Amino acid sequence: MLKIIDAPIDSKILLEIIYTAVGDNLDAFQRFLNKRNTSVQQFIVQLDETVAAIKAKSQGNKNNLEGKQLESFRRGKVVYEEKAVCMGCHGMDGEGLLNLGPPLATSDWVTGDPERLIRVLLHGMEGPVTVNGTTYTPLAVMPGLGTNPTITDQDLADVSTFVRNSWGNSAPPVKEKDVAHERELTQGRGEKLYREEDFF
Ligand code: HEC
Repeated sequence: MLKIIDAPIDSKILLEIIYTAVGDNLDAFQRFLNKRNTSVQQFIVQLDETVAAIKAKSQGNKNNLEGKQLESFRRGKVVYEEKAVCMGCHGMDGEGLLNLGPPLATSDWVTGDPERLIRVLLHGMEGPVTVNGTTYTPLAVMPGLGTNPTITDQDLADVSTFVRNSWGNSAPPVKEKDVAHERELTQGRGEKLYREEDFF
C-alpha cells in the first residue's frame, strides 16, 4: 500500500487495483458509479485526488522538528519502514496490527520516558502490555534490536525520534548518546525480553 501511495499514480495501475478490489462485484461497482453519475475515468481522477489529499495531510501533519532533528526523523522513517520493518508489526501509521504489534500512535510507551522506549528497542518485550488503556496479548513478541549487528545506536535514536513525532505524537527527540548510555547500563541483559512489570 505504501509503495502504491508513494509512487506517482498511473491510472492504468489504479484501474487494475480497482478491478482487483472489485473482483466479482463488478455489477455492484457499476451500479455504484451509475448512481453517482460517474464514469470509471472520473472515479479514478477522484481517487487520485483523494490519495493526494491524504498524502498532503500526512505530510502537513508531520512535526515541529528542524535541522539535525528533522534529518534524524527522516532517517528514522526509513528505519521504521525498511531497515528494521517496525511497520510490519506496528502498521504504516503506527495504528498497530492485530496479534502483531500494539499501537504506537498516542502510546505512552513511545512518548513517555525515553529510557524505557530505548530499553524496549534494545532488548525487546513480551507478555501482556497495556497501551492507551487497552491490554494487548499479541502472538508475536517485540524483538530486541540491540544484538542486531546491522542496527546502530544512531538507527535506534532515529527511529525513536521518528515514532515520538509521528501520527500525532509529539515528544523530544532521542540522541545517539542516549541509546549508547542505555546500552551500557543494560549491558548484561542480552536478549532477555522485558515484561511490562519490569518497568513498574
Ligand atoms: C515482529 C513484530 C515486531 C516488530 C518488527 C517490532 N515490534 Fe514493537 N512490539 C511488538 C510486540 C508484539 C509488542 C508488545 C510486546 C508485549 O507483548 O509485551 C511490541 C511493543 C512495542 C512497544 C511498546 C508498546 C507500544 O505499543 O507502545 C514499542 C514502543 C515498540 N514495540 C516499538 C517498535 C519499534 C520502533 C520497532 C522497530 C524498530 C518495533 N517495535 C518492531 C512487535 C514488533
